[in-house]
Amino acid sequence: MLSEMDLEQAKIILGDEFASHADEIWETIQSLHYPTTARVLDIGTGEGKMAIILALMGYKVKTGEPSEDLWADWRTPAQKVGVIKQISFQPFGAENMPFDNNSFDLITAWATFHHIARVHKAIDECMRVLKTNGKLVIFEFNKKGIDKIKALYPNHPDLIDIRDYYNGNPDNISFEAKEEINVFIIQK
Ligand SMILES: C[S@@+](CC[C@H](N)C(=O)[O-])C[C@H]1O[C@@H](n2cnc3c(N)ncnc32)[C@H](O)[C@@H]1O
Repeated sequence: MLSEMDLEQAKIILGDEFASHADEIWETIQSLHYPTTARVLDIGTGEGKMAIILALMGYKVKTGEPSEDLWADWRTPAQKVGVIKQISFQPFGAENMPFDNNSFDLITAWATFHHIARVHKAIDECMRVLKTNGKLVIFEFNKKGIDKIKALYPNHPDLIDIRDYYNGNPDNISFEAKEEINVFIIQK
């Protein structure tokens, strides 16, 4: 049954673009030990990498991006690895999300925040829709990662450090530097 395929098979089926950093994303989410019943929101659907990895891990995922910025076809890869039914798409902008207060246990964003115009506002919105003790996990490219992208796309936005945009209790934000990405986790 395809929906039970592991990450290694998905990487082979979906290719290098999907595979790059997929292990780091998987390991980071796994380390948080959320049950598969957790309410999960993914911001900035893009090619669907983040939502597909969450779905492969067994989560049901709500994901979205602005309707004026529909980025890529995430449905075909989700279909190919058998997880499309676990992913529900709804257009929204991170700065003003159509969700009630205290709705989600976990919010994720892979390579999304450096594309968001008002990062402060987006973080505030995440804190509003997260449940108490819920976590916002933001993956962003570091200098090495962004330089690789800029070599191909010189007009690509610069890297951002989420700590520059977070006004809450400094004890509630953690930071981990990996080879090409930084991982920021904010607990509400
Ligand atoms: C490089 S893609 C992210 C990759 C994607 N997270 C994945 O897992 O494949 C950047 C994403 O940011 C989204 N985006 C840009 N501005 C946004 C905003 N204000 N709110 C939410 N998403 C936004 C774009 O629509 C796009 O989906």
